[in-house]
Amino acid sequence: MDILAGRTVIVMGVANKNSIAWGCARAIMACGGQVVLTYQNERLRQSLLRFVAPDQPMVQCDVADEENIDAAFTTIRERYGAVHGLVHAIAYADKESLEGDVLQVSKAGYNLAQDISAYSLLAVTRSAVRLFPALRSVLTMTYFGSTHVIPNYNIMGVAKAALEANVRYVAKELGPQHVRVNAISAGAVKTLAVTGVKNHASLLQMSRAATVDGESVTQSEIGNTAAFLLSDMANGITGDIIFVDKGVHLM
Ligand SMILES: NC(=O)c1ccc[n+]([C@@H]2O[C@H](COP(=O)([O-])OP(=O)(O)OC[C@H]3O[C@@H](n4cnc5c(N)ncnc54)[C@H](O)[C@@H]3O)[C@@H](O)[C@H]2O)c1
Repeated sequence: MDILAGRTVIVMGVANKNSIAWGCARAIMACGGQVVLTYQNERLRQSLLRFVAPDQPMVQCDVADEENIDAAFTTIRERYGAVHGLVHAIAYADKESLEGDVLQVSKAGYNLAQDISAYSLLAVTRSAVRLFPALRSVLTMTYFGSTHVIPNYNIMGVAKAALEANVRYVAKELGPQHVRVNAISAGAVKTLAVTGVKNHASLLQMSRAATVDGESVTQSEIGNTAAFLLSDMANGITGDIIFVDKGVHLM
């Protein structure tokens, strides 16, 4: 289980213990890797301090600001040296845009969802490739609302479609540099982000009912797949969307 021994992975998007990114961080550590967390702002740093180890490497990074991304990654390089993997587990849409019909979304609401949820993958990958020559694997998180109409997922489904297309193009572009780029399409799990979706209780319930065994996928099941995809065990996989949803997408 030491498939990530000697590897350092930046994990972006831990808000609390329920975050998918935290499931990834724990699995990476369990596989022998070192994790550097990034957090959006001071409020989230305070949240992390409640449960991470006292010596957990952490750096502030708001992906809305590209200079902040470069500064954060430069700090990580100075403090922790080489980085081999990057987990992007970040998405955001304002409540009004998410709750409304896709047809009625404002230009600002559309752009914000795309900026934070899809463009940011390009921004962080570009910066990471430039600053970390040892980078080998980039991973993001998506949902099958990208290809299916899921009630109330709305503008986030549109953003996830863009995110998945980013994965494919960037995987092709970074192939010659031996950087793999993939996404996990996770089943619905109760996190802060999901509570932003209108009627999220029924989304979670619908998703649980559609799994092959009637049980929701867990954060640690998603994290374990992330650890695999970040490791050399997955060297043949790039540009792909790997479902970790206990079969929901089959239904
Ligand atoms: N929870 C689910 O059911 C589910 C299913 C499939 C995919 N996903 C995806 O997983 C990823 C992680 O979400 P989660 O469900 O763990 O929720 P979460 O709320 O725990 O994590 C979302 C993270 O995005 C971060 N974020 C938002 N705007 C940011 C910004 N400007 N700069 C930096 N960070 C920012 C938040 O700080 C938070 O840590 C998201 O991409 C989400 O769409 C979630």
